[in-house]
Amino acid sequence: MKKRVLGLLLTAVMSLGLMVGCGPADTGEAPDASGDATTETTDSKPADGSGKRVAVAMPTQSSERWINDGNNMKEKLEALGYEVDLQYAEDDVQAQVSQIENMIAAGADCLVIAAVDSSALVNVEQQAKDAKIPIIAYDRLLMDTDAVSYYATFDNKGVGTAIGKYIVESKDLPAAQKEGKSYTIEFFMGSPDDNNAVMLYNGLMEELQQYLDDGTLVCKSGRTSFDDTCILRWSQETAQQNCENYLTGFYADEKLDICATAFDGFAYGCKAALEGAGYKVGEDWPLITGQDAELMATKNIIAGSQTMSIYKDTRLLADKCVTMVQAVLEGAEPEINDTEQYDNGKLVVPSYLCTPVAVDKDNYKEIIVDGGYYTEEQLAE
Ligand code: GAL
Repeated sequence: MKKRVLGLLLTAVMSLGLMVGCGPADTGEAPDASGDATTETTDSKPADGSGKRVAVAMPTQSSERWINDGNNMKEKLEALGYEVDLQYAEDDVQAQVSQIENMIAAGADCLVIAAVDSSALVNVEQQAKDAKIPIIAYDRLLMDTDAVSYYATFDNKGVGTAIGKYIVESKDLPAAQKEGKSYTIEFFMGSPDDNNAVMLYNGLMEELQQYLDDGTLVCKSGRTSFDDTCILRWSQETAQQNCENYLTGFYADEKLDICATAFDGFAYGCKAALEGAGYKVGEDWPLITGQDAELMATKNIIAGSQTMSIYKDTRLLADKCVTMVQAVLEGAEPEINDTEQYDNGKLVVPSYLCTPVAVDKDNYKEIIVDGGYYTEEQLAE
């Protein structure tokens, strides 16, 4: 079962690679956030990146992935001769606004932004545009602004699809449907101020809705809509609290079979709630999904306390983002593979979508260890 999902995903990876390989002609012109001033900047400074400042605004250090994202970006940009100003806003929207204002005042030549709240930066983005500083959106789309030139991300709807397919296949829902068997499920979705979260939800529900409709999946809390299941700022604590509430309120007489979560942090929260309620790994432990394949999540997958995660190679994302920085600063051609899906309300932002891959205990070695993301030693610590 699982092999089929993974096979499909690998095929998707390969075909995406092919599409990218033969697609530069249809990438179109990069919209220039800063009018002709980008060219001015390019002309006045050396082409190897030296002397140019790239400011990278990251949302938080509370989850491991963003620390890796920041470190990868810094390393790759510095290797190209850029000066890097990397800052984390610790999920504080106003702090991120101030950081970006300071980056502009300090003379950044380009801004790379992974937003805390994707719609809250409109004014500061306008300031950057007025100062002729191009902006690249990193992982999270910047909403309601025309100041953004490119977007580097993972296929966010594809993440939801992969999680949904994993649930369908590992519980063999088509067979359960025929036999009139059912599984209980609860949902833990991402932050309502992050466009990624809604896209993931849509991908997930495309796979699961029919099974909810016919009763093969039973959500005893009744909370299946995005609005009812989203968790502000991707808070692990809220996920744990929600899971505790569901377990006490709805699962006193029947076990919870599936925690459909959108983030490894949520999986940790559910794990703590389930342990508190007396669930045991290897006995009545539910299927728990996640996203990001953090080190801790991968260890939990090996230990059986998380079932799967979505591997998002942050090294690849950083590579793609760096090509976009080079494009706006040096006039190079970035790889783009989506010019349709990411409408931010002001423009459809030319994007590169990296392919997410589902990982579980059967393939983590091949994907994560052989891919050099974590070593066996790190996973054994
Ligand atoms: C989202 C991202 C996820 C996860 C989450 C919480 O924007 O798509 O992969 O990292 O933030 O940090």
